[in-house]
Amino acid sequence: MKRTVLVTGAAGFIGAFLSARLVCESWDVVGFDNVNSYYDPGIKEDRIRMVEAAAAEGPGSFRLVRGDLCDAALVERLFAEHSFDVVVNLAAQAGVRYSIDNPRAYVDSNLVGFFNVLEACRHHPVKHLVYASSSSVYGGNEKVPFSESDRVDHPVSLYAATKKANELMAHAYSKLYGIPATGLRFFTVYGPMGRPDMAYFKFADTLRAGGTIKIYNMGDCRRDFTYVDDIVEGVARVIARPPADCGTGARYAVYNIGNSEPVQLLEFVDTLQRVLVEEGVLPEGYDFEAHRELAPMQPGDVVETYADCSVLERDFGYRPATALEDGLRSFAKWYRGYYECGVR
Ligand SMILES: NC(=O)c1ccc[n+]([C@@H]2O[C@H](COP(=O)([O-])OP(=O)(O)OC[C@H]3O[C@@H](n4cnc5c(N)ncnc54)[C@H](O)[C@@H]3O)[C@@H](O)[C@H]2O)c1
Repeated sequence: MKRTVLVTGAAGFIGAFLSARLVCESWDVVGFDNVNSYYDPGIKEDRIRMVEAAAAEGPGSFRLVRGDLCDAALVERLFAEHSFDVVVNLAAQAGVRYSIDNPRAYVDSNLVGFFNVLEACRHHPVKHLVYASSSSVYGGNEKVPFSESDRVDHPVSLYAATKKANELMAHAYSKLYGIPATGLRFFTVYGPMGRPDMAYFKFADTLRAGGTIKIYNMGDCRRDFTYVDDIVEGVARVIARPPADCGTGARYAVYNIGNSEPVQLLEFVDTLQRVLVEEGVLPEGYDFEAHRELAPMQPGDVVETYADCSVLERDFGYRPATALEDGLRSFAKWYRGYYECGVR
């Protein structure tokens, strides 16, 4: 039986890998993305080619619609033209630090854009709306691990506030219009073809260019790094099962998806540097100490992220498990091939 899914942000890091997975599972995937230049759009075009190649092999299909979620008429037309069974909203202005200087981009894509998706789901009912939230909603919470039942009323960046707002908006639309909606709080996602604005990718770029990397909060940060395939596995499982009434009359749920193994930033950098050498991106004997500098905390950053994934495991029998070293090695291998760099 043919099923159609809308994946917004399909040229993005997670959206592309999710789309490639879904075409292999016989879904007809309609991707939607404005392919903006927040980071190198070349990598987004390459991801689109990767999904198209997967669709050429797989039983499903892929078609990308280029457009902006803020264009309400376009989003409405998109939903009117297709009968989407499922919508996965991943398009957003991502990144915490960028929100300090470019707050409007977050209001546009994350609030107005998400509102347009909700309105379209209201007028063209879907079986399940799945959308990306973020671990950043936990703000400066000190109780770890972070659990879905923790209070999340104190975001420390506008990005985090928009993601929390998405959860609230989804609940209201779920309750009012019977839209089954699941929010997924992703924890620092990394992997091949990842986002060049994220720390691990920038570290690789800087070290390759012989520069010095800045390790914030003097290295005293812990992050729950989650491999992209683990995120895709989680999303694919969640898509298949819309939530039951959460007790408020709304078919609504929120889940953490994270590795549940926070790593000290300095340990993370050590592992990254080691695999970059072992995979031939950096030369043997690279003097790492000379290329790192400890720096103070950045506005909007949090000291620790740590996912409690027991609710995900209870409901879907799944929890991410890729070891950091394995995931970073896949990234390093891809990086070396993609930039045709290396020392061997
Ligand atoms: N990668 C992570 O570590 C992480 C962590 C937590 C949450 N998330 C969330 O997961 C989702 C996917 O993240 P990602 O890492 O793949 O990011 P990404 O930036 O690679 O992908 C987002 C895609 O959305 C598109 N987009 C942005 N605004 C748009 C708009 N107004 N209209 C149409 N397209 C638009 C961009 O062009 C991009 O291709 C985002 O919602 C992000 O906030 C990601």
